Amino acid sequence: MTEHLSRTALITGASRGLGLALARDLASRGWHLILDARRKDDLEAARAELAKLTRVVAIAGDVSDERHREALAKSARDLGGLDVLVNNASILGPSPQPPLLDYPLATLEEVYRINTVSPLALIQAVRNELKPGARIINITSDAAVEPYPGWGGYGSSKAALEQLSNILAAENPDLRVYRVDPGDMRTRMHQEAFPGEDISDRPLPEESVPGLIELIEGDLPSGRYEARSLHASKG
Ligand SMILES: NC(=O)c1ccc[n+]([C@@H]2O[C@H](COP(=O)([O-])OP(=O)(O)OC[C@H]3O[C@@H](n4cnc5c(N)ncnc54)[C@H](OP(=O)(O)O)[C@@H]3O)[C@@H](O)[C@H]2O)c1
Repeated sequence: MTEHLSRTALITGASRGLGLALARDLASRGWHLILDARRKDDLEAARAELAKLTRVVAIAGDVSDERHREALAKSARDLGGLDVLVNNASILGPSPQPPLLDYPLATLEEVYRINTVSPLALIQAVRNELKPGARIINITSDAAVEPYPGWGGYGSSKAALEQLSNILAAENPDLRVYRVDPGDMRTRMHQEAFPGEDISDRPLPEESVPGLIELIEGDLPSGRYEARSLHASKG
């Protein structure tokens, strides 16, 4: 708990699923945390748990809200800057997911606003708070690259996030910008994607965390990574 005492990570969507699993791991390593999610009670439960281990600032809000992003950036400034920003908050869109020919366009715009535009907007908001060598991790999906029928809205939002990350890395060689497919995980979003199905065979989000830690604490170049194979390849 001493080694990284002064390191700070901002993780969006940290009240459950992958975001909470990563927050728990970093808290146990002594990282300071700034967390968000829209639902106040869930976020407060996460904050209360993690505050037993480390310094935690939890701000309820929607990543697509500019004032909320400004509040996150102010917290980053107050805590002395960011070593890591994890753009994890995301929505699936309608469940079940409609094919593209029937996809409601207003909903598509919302999916893009939250999954694609907001991560870039948050990076812009905290750009002056990023410490030298800071890591930006944008959580994407295999649906960003595979043409799964029914995944056109969510998948294309993640495809755009991938290319945003790719170009951001080329434009900012001083930053590490990682776009990361965490793999299928047993979470609320996954259950929404497969309504009524038994998803108990999917790995827990905790299994994707070690790969993220490799990126956060290691020295890998900017690029696209699969969280679980990344960790498996280290043995
Ligand atoms: N689960 C999978 O199989 C899978 C596979 C590939 C990629 N992913 C990606 O992995 C990441 C984590 O997914 P997950 O499965 O852990 O999802 P999850 O269980 O649904 O959790 C999503 C988290 O994000 C928050 N959130 C959602 N929209 C938000 C918004 N607009 N502003 C702020 N917070 C918001 C949620 O809290 P509130 O609802 O209270 O806001 C929650 O804390 C996502 O980027 C997802 O696309 C997941």
